[in-house]
Amino acid sequence: MLDVGCGSGTLSTQTFTSYFESILGIDISEAKIEEAKRLNKCGNVVFELIDGYDFPVEDNSVDLITFATSIHFLDLKLLEKECERVLKPGGCCAAYAINWGDITGFSVEGTDWRQNRVLLNLIVEDFYVNIKAHPNNFAALRRNQQVYDQIQNSSKIKLQEMVREREMTLRQLKNVFSTVGDYVVFMKQEKSTTDPLEIFDKEIRQALKLENDLSDEHIILKFKEVFPIFVFTKPKVQNPTKFYERNCIYLRKSLYD
Ligand SMILES: C[S@@+](CC[C@H](N)C(=O)[O-])C[C@H]1O[C@@H](n2cnc3c(N)ncnc32)[C@H](O)[C@@H]1O
Repeated sequence: MLDVGCGSGTLSTQTFTSYFESILGIDISEAKIEEAKRLNKCGNVVFELIDGYDFPVEDNSVDLITFATSIHFLDLKLLEKECERVLKPGGCCAAYAINWGDITGFSVEGTDWRQNRVLLNLIVEDFYVNIKAHPNNFAALRRNQQVYDQIQNSSKIKLQEMVREREMTLRQLKNVFSTVGDYVVFMKQEKSTTDPLEIFDKEIRQALKLENDLSDEHIILKFKEVFPIFVFTKPKVQNPTKFYERNCIYLRKSLYD
């Protein structure tokens, strides 16, 4: 298996270790690959730095290529050609990206759950605007539709979205966003402006009508993570839906486990 744009490898590459004999995670960022190597605990996973579209694997050698919140950064023409080269016949490419669904409820530690519907994706979108995120990040937030439209491979198909219910404190949620690459760069370059995570915090509190003096580690949010997923194969398969459903079972399992 090949994981393209693996980042630090912990969220995408390593979740598949029990399903494949060997896995290669590749990324354009030297810092991410260093981190991935440092955090890697699995004998069947290797990470490599790549620059461009020559994946360091042989022709017809890969069963599954994954793009976990990364395909929107890539040049699709070059990518499709390279995937065609390295996939085994009948092998499959799967691209998925996290979308932040609704906050469906919340509680302040020790109180009952309160129902509330807040569109977290909109607050995340605001955060991306504030950190001057790369424009392609917005494509991912819009279910990667633009990317899907550009894929030439006629076997492409959208699978049913995977939805995962989460519970996290507001502090934990902010920690997730504090590791976004564009945020780290923004905070280094624009030290004097308001911290975009403070705006993020404020917007969530306003939407939930929470007082500002409540500590974020005592605010527990119930929300959904939605993963739109699309796949394509090499070469054409007679019944793509059946084929994908069978081949993507491990993808679903690894996300839910
Ligand atoms: C949002 S992160 C996702 C990381 C990981 N897949 C995950 O799910 O946590 C996107 C990753 O894509 C990588 N990336 C961006 N452009 C790339 C390119 N042209 N080739 C390979 N990786 C790239 C970035 O360095 C970053 O690590």
